[in-house]
Order: sequence, then structure tokens, then C-alpha cells
Amino acid sequence: MSKVLVHLVGGARPNFMKLAPIVRALQARSDRFELKIVHTGQHYDRDMSDVFFEELGIPAPDHYLEAGGGSHAQQTAKIMVAYETLCQERLPDLTLVVGDVNSTIACSLVAKKLGVAIAHVEAGLRSGDRNMPEEINRLATDAISDYFFVTEESGEQNLLREGQSADRVFFVGHVMIDNLFYQVEQLKTADHTSFPSAALKQQLQRYGIVTLHRPSNVDSADTLVPLIGALKEIAIDLPLIFPVHPRTRANIERFGIDLGPNIHTTAPMSYMDFLNVWKDAVVVLTDSGGLQEETTGLGVPCLTLRENTERPVTLSDGTNTLVGVSPAAILEEAKKVLQGQGKAGRQPKYWDGHAAERIVAILDRELP
Ligand code: UD1
Repeated sequence: MSKVLVHLVGGARPNFMKLAPIVRALQARSDRFELKIVHTGQHYDRDMSDVFFEELGIPAPDHYLEAGGGSHAQQTAKIMVAYETLCQERLPDLTLVVGDVNSTIACSLVAKKLGVAIAHVEAGLRSGDRNMPEEINRLATDAISDYFFVTEESGEQNLLREGQSADRVFFVGHVMIDNLFYQVEQLKTADHTSFPSAALKQQLQRYGIVTLHRPSNVDSADTLVPLIGALKEIAIDLPLIFPVHPRTRANIERFGIDLGPNIHTTAPMSYMDFLNVWKDAVVVLTDSGGLQEETTGLGVPCLTLRENTERPVTLSDGTNTLVGVSPAAILEEAKKVLQGQGKAGRQPKYWDGHAAERIVAILDRELP
């Protein structure tokens, strides 16, 4: 029997940590699966892309589509055209997509129209906010996927409510948590002094972490200026380390925002450099999706600077608190954490480091 040709698709920074454990699990079944890694090129800067492949132990992509940059339509269209060309050279049996970025929907659309089955890892998450580009990507990808791998119970419920058939929905846990636990082990033997942020960590000792990049938070001065104002106030009591996403950096400059002396900005950090600092933070303030989950994975209090979350298990079981973007609410919740009243949380179901193995076992069983 010939092997199942799998295209594993990644494009943007939050995809890469999800690819690593799937690669390992597929490689362990190389008798059954032929793996080809497809990098769309959505993120292209070294510190947003290559460095993650190197640190997370992902082999160099088999196919690099170089389809980064531009507006949403331009980016999605460029990825689609390039991915269709690749598929036409040799059609895969399965296109495996992760998460909710533009690369996820672009490659799914192409695959489905060529008759290729789609497996969506991290399916079924819903913020309920259709102003969020990722929510559109999630809805559209799930509308045409064949196999749904969900990270938390809400994902399963959402998909069933939307009419997906229960025998295609698999609650497997979270590959990103697989990666996190794996990398925490690697970090124990790594040379910490080689991390660019090690000196900052040493100097500050007690600190919080900030990440901000959602268009709804950073693209307008009306939102970003008060948000940074609240952070500056927190930073008087607790210095903050803020690795700045390229989109956010551009807007901070454009709006002429002064961050004050206690917010320490850095370039985007590599996975290990960042893990090394956030795992010991007093609190993480973020609008990221993945970090809400990773902080739950390691029991670090997280304040989410958004009005909604597609990851409700981090609120019910984990260390996450949904704070919104009003400065008063942010300051109030930060104060609670600083007084030692942050959530302790517990590990959500199946967040045990073995999600990727479950996915590969299910694909082995389900695919012809
Ligand atoms: C994308 C994802 C988002 C994810 C985020 C993490 C979508 C819709 N959004 O948003 O879900 O949380 O990645 O980073 O797919 N840029 C660079 N270098 C790069 C990449 C981007 O300078 O390597 C700059 C460019 O100016 C680009 C801008 O950042 O236009 C935004 O990048 P883009 O990929 O469009 O979206 P993100 O905001 O990164």
C-alpha cells in the first residue's frame, strides 16, 4: 500500500509551535505517512519564522511558497495561487492545517477544491466576534474541513452546533501544549545566558510580560494610547518586559507613544528566549490566543486584554482572566494579581503532552 502523502501547512508565527509535535508524531509513523512541510511565507522575518523552525526542531520546509506580505486579500490570494501550483505538481492525500491564520484558510480552500481531504488542528474555537480576522478564518476552515481535532470541550460543542458530524470531531487535547512541555524539558539543559533577554531577567528579577498585536488593540491610537497608559501605571509597581510585534512597533512609532522608563521593549523573541522569561513572570498581560493557553499550561496568571476569548477553558479551568481593554479594569485585575490573588488554575482535560500522537493514531485509523 502506498503511503499517505500529508502536506503539513504553516505560515505565521503562532503556527510553528503547533507543527513541531505533529512532525515528530508523523515521523514516528513514516511507514504509513509521507510528510511534506509547506511554509506559506506569511511570516518571513527571521525572528518571526526561521528561528522557530531551528529552536523547535522542525525540519526545513520541503516547500516554501514565499507568499508573505500585503493586505488580507493579497496575502490569502498569493498563498492560494502558490499552493494550488504546488498541489498540481503532485496532489497530497491530506492537507493538515493548524490554527486560524490566513495561511490556514488559504490552503484549506485550495485543497478542498482539488478534492484533497482537510484535517484542521485546533478546530471549533469561536470567539463570537466576527470583526476578528481569525474568527472568519476559523469559521470558513471548519465549514469545509473533513477531520476536526479539538483542544477543548467548547470546540466540540461549537462544531456539533454548526452541524458537523460527531464521528469527524475528535477531542484530542492541544499540540501547542505538547510542544510547551517538550520545550520546558529542553530549557532545563539549555544555556540560558545565550538568550538575549537573560540579562534583563537577571536585572529585573520580578517582572510582568506584555504582548500586544491584535489589530483591534494596536491599529488605532484611541485604543492603543490608553492601553499603554494602563501598562505604564502597572509598570511603576512591576516592571514589564514587552517583546514588540512588527505591527505594534510600527503603530507605536506612528502614534508617537512614549512607553516610559519601566516598560522594557525588545525585538520579537525566539520561542525559548521568550519561554525562559514568561515562565517566571508574576503576570502575563496579552491579547495573544496561544499565550492564554500556554500560561494555563504552566500555571502563570494571565490577564487577557480583549473583550472575548475563543479559548474559554483557560477561564474556567486555567489561570486566565478576561479583562477587556478599559484601563480601570486592567489596573484592578493587575492589582489583584500583585496582591497574590491571581488564579492558580488546573490543567484542562487532555492537556497532557500527547495530543499529536492521538491525532496521528486517529488519522491512521480513519484514512484509507
Ligand atoms: C498574524 C495572524 C494572527 C497571529 C499573528 C501572530 C492572520 C489573519 N493573523 O497576524 O492570527 O496572531 O500573525 O504574529 O493570519 N510583518 C513583518 N515581518 C513578518 C511578518 C509580518 O514585518 O515576518 C509585518 C508586516 O508589516 C505585516 C504585519 O507585520 O503587514 C502584519 O503581519 P500579518 O501576517 O499580516 O498579520 P499579523 O498581525 O502578524
